[in-house]
Amino acid sequence: MCGIIGISSNKSVSASIINSLKKLEYRGYDSAGIATLFEGEIKEVKSEGRVDTLEQNFDLKNLKGNIGIGHVRWATHGKPNSVNAHPHSSHNVSVVHNGIIENSTILKKYLTTKGHVFKSQTDTEVIVHLITENLKADDLEIAITKTLNQLHGSFALGIVFKDIPDLIVGARRGSPLAVGYGPNENYLGSDSYALKAMTNKITYLDDGEFCIIKKDQVLFFNEDGIKINKKILKLSSNEVSYEKGDFKHFMAKEIEEQPITIKTGIKEYIDKTNSEINIYNFPWKISEINSITLIGCGTAYHSCMMAKYWFEELTKLDINIDIASEFRYRKNRFKKDSLYIFVSQSGETADTYAALDLCKRNNMKTCAVVNVIESSIARDANFVLPIHCGPEIGVASTKAFLGQILILYILSLKFGSLRNEINKNTYKDKVKELLNLPSLIEKSLLIDNDIQAISSTFNEVKGSMFLGRGFSYPIALEGALKLKELSYVHAEGYPAGEMKHGPLALIEDGMPVVVLAPRDNYYKKTISNMQEVIARGAKVLLITNKSKDEIISENIWETIEVENTNEDLLPFLLTIPLQKLAYYSALKKGYDIDKPRNLAKSVTVE
Ligand code: AGP
Repeated sequence: MCGIIGISSNKSVSASIINSLKKLEYRGYDSAGIATLFEGEIKEVKSEGRVDTLEQNFDLKNLKGNIGIGHVRWATHGKPNSVNAHPHSSHNVSVVHNGIIENSTILKKYLTTKGHVFKSQTDTEVIVHLITENLKADDLEIAITKTLNQLHGSFALGIVFKDIPDLIVGARRGSPLAVGYGPNENYLGSDSYALKAMTNKITYLDDGEFCIIKKDQVLFFNEDGIKINKKILKLSSNEVSYEKGDFKHFMAKEIEEQPITIKTGIKEYIDKTNSEINIYNFPWKISEINSITLIGCGTAYHSCMMAKYWFEELTKLDINIDIASEFRYRKNRFKKDSLYIFVSQSGETADTYAALDLCKRNNMKTCAVVNVIESSIARDANFVLPIHCGPEIGVASTKAFLGQILILYILSLKFGSLRNEINKNTYKDKVKELLNLPSLIEKSLLIDNDIQAISSTFNEVKGSMFLGRGFSYPIALEGALKLKELSYVHAEGYPAGEMKHGPLALIEDGMPVVVLAPRDNYYKKTISNMQEVIARGAKVLLITNKSKDEIISENIWETIEVENTNEDLLPFLLTIPLQKLAYYSALKKGYDIDKPRNLAKSVTVE
């Protein structure tokens, strides 16, 4: 997905647009561009690569104009290059776009017959020429309404017009878009993060709406082109800094922040004086819910998997999980007594948002577990459980994963207690143990040098395996995902008990295999699976918890012991070394850790 910014001001906008684009680069960074209006002309500059490259290629300080739009791209149609970079412009219209226009081919054919000439391979360019064509016959609001109705698919748009040099049009369908209000200027942005440096007053567009932004006025319209009023929200001025501080990367900072973010999450939901979990304003009676379905993508899906184990351990509820991009097209059997929980750090992931929309259209109970509380998923779900991790900038999710599983664990405990499916003492003991989690994480973070030393091994081979059983299996998948997305090497998370059904054939001399085997109910079985791979030449990195019992196996390449705690909480601690393993592997390869290739922080397209 991509990042959009637009500013209509009483002064030059290029510097502010550049600053905002740099904040938006976590949404996409394979090309960047700006267009401003100055002396009756559209001034468009764009190039492949980062915003820094744009600054090197063009003298942006002298890019004049009090109205402008900017864009950072994550390519969907057309290679990342300067031709396909946004903005896209005709002689009198310039557009930046986040989303996918599904009927772009048909529209392109129609517009070509009207004499329009296309320069790029993008779907976005059809928007430019369609508006240009519609403006020939209609005034602005009608032309915009007509154009939006002709587009199929998703879009967040910023549009400027050579012949109407005092306004920007924004429009939203399926991709997030916000308006910000400043002194003698107003803004358009993909999310509040891009606007926070300039304002804390925000309005979010809803699907189908468009807006007209002038330096001293903002108007909103519904999909029929009828003027509407919208709420202005005051953003929380959370103190968590958006800067790296002394850390080399945001990811390193966010790994080390985890004791704080977990402490914040605990504080938000647990009254430690009486060891009680408080989930305020839960809109349903517990008796109304007899099954739960958890839905997410990527790391958020691993959180759903983790939650399934806890809910099954602590309640008798029927628990289902699904990957959002699968769920949204499945022939789902919707039941009245089901609760659907959507897990998403950004709250903007298109597949997860579409799954939420499907459930809402079937009048299901919907709950969002998100980090960005102003996000679309948070706004559209019936109920929100924020994870309170502060902004997560590194594309590879770390603190948000631990924040998600914390809230889901807390929820499973609360459900178990309210349904009288765990006894009161057990409930209280587990809540008390949870209070120790931040310090346990702090200690686990100290395991650093050992991991640094072995991390390069994972770079020098064609692949590795991450194995776990039970509570450790979702963590094995998460560890493998981290290594893949940061070091670009193949890594496969697998249930330890499943290796003998095929993947054991992959094991060869010197292949690194991470085995998660905490001293839980699965320990002995996992150790025997570990011996099966050692016997075939694997270099096993065993990650377990401290114990007075000796480890009953030989020829283990390396062992890492995390702090000991109750079984429920071990997944939190096992995750830490895996996050660091991926981080140090990528660091040794010299890769861009906060912005890995081909990825983006929030995938707001299918
Ligand atoms: C995780 O490290 C990845 N960045 C990715 O899998 C991510 O978890 C996924 O895209 C879901 O994003 P969300 O949590 O913002 O919905």
